[in-house]
Amino acid sequence: MQKLSSSELREKYLRFFAERGHAVIQSASLIPENDPTVLFTTAGMHPLVPYLGGEKHPMGKRLTDVQKCVRTGDIDEVGDATHCTFFEMLGNWSLGDYFKKESIGWSFEFLTQVLGITIDKLAVSVFAGDDVCERDEESAKIWAEKGIPADRIFYLPRKNNWWGPAGQTGPCGPDTEIFIDTGKEKCCDTCSPSCDCGKYIEIWNNVFMQFRKTKEGTYEPLENKNVDTGMGLERTLCILGGYQSVYDTDLFADAVKLLEDLSGKKYGEEEESTRAIRILCDHIRTSVMMLGDTKGITPSNVDQGYILRRLIRRAVRFARVLNLPDHALTSLAQIFIDKYKGVYPEIGDNSEKIIAELTKEENRFKSVILDGYKELDKVLFGIQKHKEFASKNGQVVEDVISGKAAFRLYDTFGFPIEMTVEIAKERGYTVDVAGFEKAYQEHQEKSRAGAEQKFKGGLADNSEITARLHTATHLLNQGLRNIVSPDINQKGSNITAERLRFDFNLDRPVTPEEIKALEDYVNGAIKADVEIICEEMSVDQAKEKGAVGVFTAKYGDVVKVYTIGKYSCEICGGPHAKRTGELGTFKITKEQSAAAGVRRIRAILE
Ligand code: ALA
Repeated sequence: MQKLSSSELREKYLRFFAERGHAVIQSASLIPENDPTVLFTTAGMHPLVPYLGGEKHPMGKRLTDVQKCVRTGDIDEVGDATHCTFFEMLGNWSLGDYFKKESIGWSFEFLTQVLGITIDKLAVSVFAGDDVCERDEESAKIWAEKGIPADRIFYLPRKNNWWGPAGQTGPCGPDTEIFIDTGKEKCCDTCSPSCDCGKYIEIWNNVFMQFRKTKEGTYEPLENKNVDTGMGLERTLCILGGYQSVYDTDLFADAVKLLEDLSGKKYGEEEESTRAIRILCDHIRTSVMMLGDTKGITPSNVDQGYILRRLIRRAVRFARVLNLPDHALTSLAQIFIDKYKGVYPEIGDNSEKIIAELTKEENRFKSVILDGYKELDKVLFGIQKHKEFASKNGQVVEDVISGKAAFRLYDTFGFPIEMTVEIAKERGYTVDVAGFEKAYQEHQEKSRAGAEQKFKGGLADNSEITARLHTATHLLNQGLRNIVSPDINQKGSNITAERLRFDFNLDRPVTPEEIKALEDYVNGAIKADVEIICEEMSVDQAKEKGAVGVFTAKYGDVVKVYTIGKYSCEICGGPHAKRTGELGTFKITKEQSAAAGVRRIRAILE
C-alpha cells in the first residue's frame, strides 16, 4: 500500500479518471441548490442531481471531482477517532455513459494498481435484490472475474446496499461497496461488512443510479443508467497510512501541533485533552469551510447558520478545557485556511471574512459563557436543594434540568440546547428537551403575536391595502428565488399602508435587469388574476408541498400555507388579498444594502 499525502491522493484520483475520459469539475458550494430538504451538501453527487436526472451536463458524460461535504448528524460524537463533520469526497460519474463493467473495473484498477492495495485485502458487497430492483448478479460476476473470491462477495439487502436519494426525493439506486478487510477475526459465523465489528472498513461506494424516488415514496426508472461513486478522502488516507484516526493524517498535522504548543498537552496522552484537541480541529476546520464557502454562511439562529453557531460555540467551550489563549481559535482557523486555500480558492479569497466572522461569534459567546456556567451551577444547586428537601418528605426528585431553565440558558446566555444537554450529561443530569421546545415555542408565539398586533394596528385603517402589499411581498420573495438566486431567504419584512419593504440575503446589488424581471414576475401574477388559497396543514405536509419557510425555526403543529397559483407557496399567518387581480401594478422604488450580505427592496402598488 502506498502512504500518500492528501494532495497526492486528490491528484492521483483526478488524474486516473481524467485519463479515462472524465472532465475534472470544481467542487460545488456546501449549500445545496434547489434542495430545501437538506442543509448541506452531503455527497459528491448532490450538486449533480439534475444531471443524474437526465439534464445534459456542459462538461460531458464522464465527470470527476473532489467535493466538499458536511454531515452534521453526529456533531456530539465528534471527539472520537473517526467522526468528522466536514470531509472531502472523491467521486466519478457516468451520466448515461459507462455502467457496471467499467465502473467496477476502474475502481479495482485504481485500488490495486495506483494505491497498491492487494486483492487479499479487498471485500465487496452487492445488492441482494427486492421488489423494486433485481439481485445484482452482474456486479458479483464482474468482481469474481477480477479475482475477488466468492466468500468475500457479500449479497446485502436494501438497508446496506442501496444509496440515495440525497434529500427526500431524487436519483438513487443499488450499489456495490468496496471494503478493506483489516484481517481481524470474524466476529461470528455470519460476519460481513454489515456488522459493526470493525473487520471491514468501507473505502468506496459505486452506486448504479437507475431510479428516481418520488414525493409519494415510489421509484420510477430513470431514462439513463448512471454511475455515481464516492470515496472518502480522509478515510482512504487513514487506510493507506495505517492510521487509527483521521487526526493523524497530514490534514490535521499542523493544527494538532499548534494546539499542543498552546495547551502544553500532548495529543494522544490523556483522554480529556485529546478529545478537546479533536473537537477543536474538527469544528474549526468545518467552520472555516462554511464561513469561506462561495455561498458565505454566517452564524445565526436558523438553518445552516445555527449549525455553524453550534460548532463555534462548542469549540469555544473546549478551548476553555485546554486553557487556550485568546487568539487560539483564529490561529487554528488560519492553519486550515493555509492548508485548504490551494484546493478550494474561495477559502483563500474569503480568509479575512472567515477570521472576522469567527472572531465576532467567539467574542459574542465568550462574553456570556462564564455567566452561563454560573447560571447552570445555580440551576444544578437548586435541583440538589430541592432533592434534599423532597427526600425528607419521602419524595423523589430526578436530576433533570427543566425546559424553562434550558430556555433561559439559550435565550440569555446563548447556550445552544444541544450544548446544555451535553454539559448536563457530563455532570450526570438530563434536560427536559420537550419542555425546552415548549418554552421556545411559547416565546416565538408571543413575539409573533406582538408582531401581528403591530400589523393589525396598521390594518385597522388600511387593512385591504396592507393585505395586498403582503401578497405582493410573497410574490416578490418567490420572484427573487426564481430570478436572482434560489438561496434567497427572507431576512425581514415591513409593511405600511404606502409601501412594502423586504430584506433578504444577497451579497451583491440586484441588477436593473433583475429589477425589471422581478416587476414582470409580480405583474404577471397580478395579470393572471389567480385566487389566493389558504390551507392548514402539518409542517411536514407544508414541506412536502414545497412551501417556502424557515423549517428549523419552530412552527406550531399546524401551519397556514398560502398558495398563489404557480407563483408562490409560503407558510404565513396572513392576511392576504383574495385574488391577485386586486393588486394593481407592482413597482420597485428602491434597492439598497440593509446590512452585510443583506439587500433591501422597497416597492409599491399603484
Ligand atoms: N453517493 C454515494 C455516497 O455518498 C457515492 O456514498
